[in-house]
Amino acid sequence: MSEALVRLDEQAGVIRLTLNRPKALNALNSELIGELDATLAELETRRDLRAVLITGAGDKAFVAGADIAEMRDKTPEQARRFATQALATVKRLERLPVPVVALVNGFCLGGGCELALACDWAVASDNAIFGQPEVGLGVIPGFGGTQRLPRRVGPAMALDLITTGRKIDAAEALRIGLVNRVVPQGELDSLAEELAGQLAGNGPQAVRAAKQAIHDGQGQGLDNALALETSLFALGFAGDEQKEGMSAFVEKRKPDF
Ligand code: CAA
Repeated sequence: MSEALVRLDEQAGVIRLTLNRPKALNALNSELIGELDATLAELETRRDLRAVLITGAGDKAFVAGADIAEMRDKTPEQARRFATQALATVKRLERLPVPVVALVNGFCLGGGCELALACDWAVASDNAIFGQPEVGLGVIPGFGGTQRLPRRVGPAMALDLITTGRKIDAAEALRIGLVNRVVPQGELDSLAEELAGQLAGNGPQAVRAAKQAIHDGQGQGLDNALALETSLFALGFAGDEQKEGMSAFVEKRKPDF
């Protein structure tokens, strides 16, 4: 039996997804995208889910892009279908109700960078390399890069990166806000464990509501977005979670969520 292209490990409701095509630097072909989509469809149904971490197999790449060999002979219609399928999967990842964090462990190029951009935030090892090199292949980014990159780093920096196709190291990615933290390569796993512990230790409904408020608020005017925050804040007082969190503080103990 062939090895899964998406590996799934779980601890206390935190799922770690590993894109597993290391010989091709985890390049995104249709098969891998299909497996990722099916995995995400299952995760969407999990009410006990706390967070998702996503990374690439091996020590060289997160994802080196969409699969160039697969794309080479596509017609415009086939390219549209390929991008539409991938975009739907990327959106599925982005819209999971829990925090999704990219653990960028090497090359993070083209479709790989676009996948990382769909995550709520990204952390990287110091050997990570980022870029949208598509124009060098005669195309533009097709998995959301022209839209999510400017929203993350601003339009001028996105235009710089996308029109030059230049690659940047982890330090520059940190400086421009493409990633939140950079650690030495050997420490990425322990950072992932620390993040998993922090995310799983907080009130799960509060964490979900925080993601919802931030995501849904982005597309709205400030007044509507603040009203959304107030609604979600108030809703937090409807369940046991807020009672437990605040009682634990008053009683000087750790909350048990
Ligand atoms: N698609 C298909 N195969 C890929 C790949 C990709 N995006 N990236 C790497 N590979 C394969 C290579 O073909 C090679 O396979 P073989 O061993 O069978 O020859 C294997 O992975 C290892 O790669 P290299 O030998 O090239 O490794 P390297 O260390 O010399 O170079 C690299 C690493 C700089 C990342 C280089 O592999 C590279 O430039 N890859 C392509 C990066 C790129 O252009 N990505 C954008 C793709 S287009 C896209 O993503 C469009 C979109 O927005 C949807």
